[in-house]
Amino acid sequence: MIHATGLEDVVIGPSAISDINGKTGQLIYSGYDIDDLAVNATFEEVTFLLWHGRLPNQAEYDRHYQHMVENRDLPAQVMKLLFEIPQTSRPLDVLRTVVSVLSNYDQDSNNNTADANIRKATRLTARLPSIITAIERIRRGELPIKSEPSLGHAANFLYMLTGTMPNKLHTDAMNTMLILHADHELNASTFTGRVIVSTLADMYAGVVGAIGALGGALHGGANEEVMKMLLDIGEDTKAEEYIHGLLIAKKRVMGFGHRVYKCEDPRSKHLRNLTKLLCEEQDDMTWYNMSQLIAELVLKEKGLYTNVDFYSASVQYMMGIPIDMFTPVFAASRISGWTAHIMEQFGNNRLLRPRAEYTGPSNLKYTGINQRL
Ligand code: COA
Repeated sequence: MIHATGLEDVVIGPSAISDINGKTGQLIYSGYDIDDLAVNATFEEVTFLLWHGRLPNQAEYDRHYQHMVENRDLPAQVMKLLFEIPQTSRPLDVLRTVVSVLSNYDQDSNNNTADANIRKATRLTARLPSIITAIERIRRGELPIKSEPSLGHAANFLYMLTGTMPNKLHTDAMNTMLILHADHELNASTFTGRVIVSTLADMYAGVVGAIGALGGALHGGANEEVMKMLLDIGEDTKAEEYIHGLLIAKKRVMGFGHRVYKCEDPRSKHLRNLTKLLCEEQDDMTWYNMSQLIAELVLKEKGLYTNVDFYSASVQYMMGIPIDMFTPVFAASRISGWTAHIMEQFGNNRLLRPRAEYTGPSNLKYTGINQRL
């Protein structure tokens, strides 16, 4: 048997969706460098790329775009449920619950054919922003907003959150952020989704599990922790003392380190640039300057580079997204990768079932309950 704690460096099978080079700091989606896609593509194009393994031509793009627009709104019963869930709940938990409920309103729910899976992937990707923005508006005491068909996915997401048309900078920032978070090989949540459907459970079951895995602080939940840390520090003159305090206490600095990258996460530089642009727009460089200082310090002291969650925290914060919505926004992007991997798993399935090294007792004999100490 092969022993690999945390499954480090274990390859579980082939995948044509995304590739990571941890030494050179490259992330590739189906042959295209993320650096190219982040500045040139739309999120809709990237979802098509992840699901079909190639970029769409114009006619395919138009059809795909239209399907995404047509599938945004939620069934009335699901919207009603959103008003009944306690408004103090963690938004990611509500999202996970609502995705599970949605499966009951999808006629393809238990249909695992390739066509049905594309339909479900489209519905899920189109609807996640509607769920997330409804959760936020309801807890603020406002009514959810209907989607705006004239807007693309990124702009519509912001519109449904705020009720106002987003400017170009915010639309572009959201589009880039969605592209950068869309897929990342066999990260914990994607692997969870693949394990679930490897039993031949359906796509909704896989996505519900993936959302659960995303929420932990060592995975997608890190972006929320980063922003809490930046707010806690408050001003850049206090950053050094704060970070030293964390390191001396042997605590982790959220937004740093990675299982695969041993250099800068290639997504980080795009998000850093967005933090800078958003700070310039607001004429307040606090979060950019403080983040730069922390990044230099953690690299010097621990040799650790920023990961995707570090700058995505300030990007979202400056676009007015509440902190506990950061991980749901991550999910709204990663849904495209989760569904791509789930479809790939169905296409060439073998049950994912590893082994454990047994370390418990042996040769015990059953005794009656009265004889036990
Ligand atoms: N801050 C401080 N120390 C860190 C660290 C961080 N962010 N990330 C890793 N380390 C240290 C660990 O303490 C450990 O040190 P030790 O050997 O002296 O105990 C060493 O680096 C290896 O850490 P380990 O947890 O085994 O690495 P991993 O590959 O299993 O973990 C992460 C990868 C991402 C879970 C880890 O880097 C982390 O916890 N980062 C912070 C959370 C985060 O940003 N998550 C988002 C990931 S995209």
